[in-house]
Amino acid sequence: MRNNVHLTVNGKPVTTSVESRQLLVYLLREQLGMTGTHVGCDTSNCGACTVLLDGEAVKSCTVLAASVDGSSVVTIEGLAVAGELSPVQEGFRQCHGLQCGYCTPGMVMAATSLLLDDPDPTPTQIRSDLDGNLCRCTGYQMIVESVRWAAENGGPGAIADAERSAHADDTVAVTS
Ligand code: FES
Ligand code: FES
Repeated sequence: MRNNVHLTVNGKPVTTSVESRQLLVYLLREQLGMTGTHVGCDTSNCGACTVLLDGEAVKSCTVLAASVDGSSVVTIEGLAVAGELSPVQEGFRQCHGLQCGYCTPGMVMAATSLLLDDPDPTPTQIRSDLDGNLCRCTGYQMIVESVRWAAENGGPGAIADAERSAHADDTVAVTS
């Protein structure tokens, strides 16, 4: 069965139809061509597919596309403003928070959500909050330093701030 869905992706309205069993990550990657959101597992463990859904981090491989009708999604492609990286993206660049980069979009989105919740997290809090996102390359230390860099240089960024503010009164919160 196909379902019509209307949503906003990175600030732009999208209308499409999806199979009932289709996952949000495949709507983003295959129907909308937003391949920055990665698929790293089939067990909901890796976090490479993390996006913001109505301002909250979710693993988009765990969300049915039909269920996001009326929602707002921000992907890694939506964080930069006028070509300028968000503070979290810049932090990963400055602090070498990536090697192969496969986990990076999910890490950046999860870290962005963390900084919306807590603008000044300790390294221990960062490690705890990002424990749903796996990295096979970095050993995590540089990722923690990247998030600390962002905390000290602008926080989650304008797009994420606007998304969280727009949905601050929502009664149902979705968590990663
Ligand atoms: S693809 Fe691994 S948690 Fe979503
Ligand atoms: S940078 Fe390679 S998996 Fe994280």
